Amino acid sequence: MYKIYRGELLHFLADPAKVVLEESYEYFQDGLLVIKNGLVEQVGDAEILLATLSPLLVEGTEVIHYEDGLIMPGFIDTHVHYPQTEMIASYGEQLLEWLENYTFPAERKFCDEEHGGNVAEFFLSQLLEAGTTTALVFGTVHKESVDAFFTIAQQKKLRMICGKVLMDQNCPDYLSDTAETGYADSKALIEKWHKKDRLQYAITPRFAPTCSTEQLNKAGQLLAEYPDVYLHTHLCENKDEIAWVQELFPNSSNYLDVYDQSKLLGRRSVFAHGVHLQEQECQRLGETNSAIAFCPSSNLFLGSGLFNLKQAQQHNINVGFGSDIGAGTTFSMLSTINEGYKTQQLRADKLSPFQSFYLATLGGATVLDLEGTIGNFTKGAEADFIVLDYHATPLMDRRMKHCQNLTEKLFILSMLGDERHVKATHIMGELV
Ligand code: GUN
Ligand code: ZN
Repeated sequence: MYKIYRGELLHFLADPAKVVLEESYEYFQDGLLVIKNGLVEQVGDAEILLATLSPLLVEGTEVIHYEDGLIMPGFIDTHVHYPQTEMIASYGEQLLEWLENYTFPAERKFCDEEHGGNVAEFFLSQLLEAGTTTALVFGTVHKESVDAFFTIAQQKKLRMICGKVLMDQNCPDYLSDTAETGYADSKALIEKWHKKDRLQYAITPRFAPTCSTEQLNKAGQLLAEYPDVYLHTHLCENKDEIAWVQELFPNSSNYLDVYDQSKLLGRRSVFAHGVHLQEQECQRLGETNSAIAFCPSSNLFLGSGLFNLKQAQQHNINVGFGSDIGAGTTFSMLSTINEGYKTQQLRADKLSPFQSFYLATLGGATVLDLEGTIGNFTKGAEADFIVLDYHATPLMDRRMKHCQNLTEKLFILSMLGDERHVKATHIMGELV
């Protein structure tokens, strides 16, 4: 029931943007991670811990030593669409045309649960290979898509959050539900899957343009009935989208207000993108403890814009990273950090390596209201962790030889790193 891992180790205790940097993380050049029944029991300096642990424990348990690798909590992807795996890298369009031309036709196939299972299996393997151990995931409008996803996630013993898309207007007939059926199907899925093993449900209105006020209100009603499920949608991603929302909902003072009027904001509400937020929207997101998924790879790919991380932080909004596959072009959180860094450079803002690794781990857990459960190595947390490899590619290997300190190491990992640099992924302490 015990597992012991040894190696260079890093995890976060707080947001480096909010506390003194040295208090935001724990780092052990030679660290030890002790796991009991899949949960973190202890973490610390290897020599000190080995001397204090019960000899019975140490003698009875093999210590798995990751030499020259960095142990850290698994990455958390706070916004991704599993049904868009096979249409990733679709050419030439911005959001609204991209949805019409590529996305909707791809999502149509998920009425078939077998197809959903096939894609979910591949999608989850890709996430794990990239070191992502938890994600907040869009299904399609079909309840079968969520059954398929949760079935595979459960087999893999993963902590995953997913939901059936709600959309009852401005979409093809073949992808349309109604306010009533959307409500009933979501409710049935919550009853079937929410809190089953490590699975959790997210009520998932696609975005304001494809949801009638009646449907959004029903979503709000459902959230009130099940206050511990999530709300997951898109917000202020693209300028044409925002103008369209203004036309469709003339009685709302801004885009966020459409969701606010239907009572969709709160501690477990995650809004993807938020690229073009007004001051008033930021304020409201902050005061309701709502969160934003920063999706730099997608925001650049669709030409949506440059997310203002600084503004979000000033308003105390919880932020995590999202790959947003299939508008995003990578499963890798290392590559996502890379795109995030460049996004901030284009804004003349700096994204520090500590900040970005925080966002990809404990920050993501905070977005999902799961601090203490995942995202760091606090005692009792689920032991989902990864080992990053500084030497997986000749270029990184060579660059690391000219590297002075941890800050620089993390920066190089995130600028040159991708799936190839994830040496191992562990779920509840077990190598997968
Ligand atoms: N807005 C509404 N639907 C989608 C989607 O599938 N992807 C992205 N990036 N934005 C959306
Ligand atoms: Zn999305």
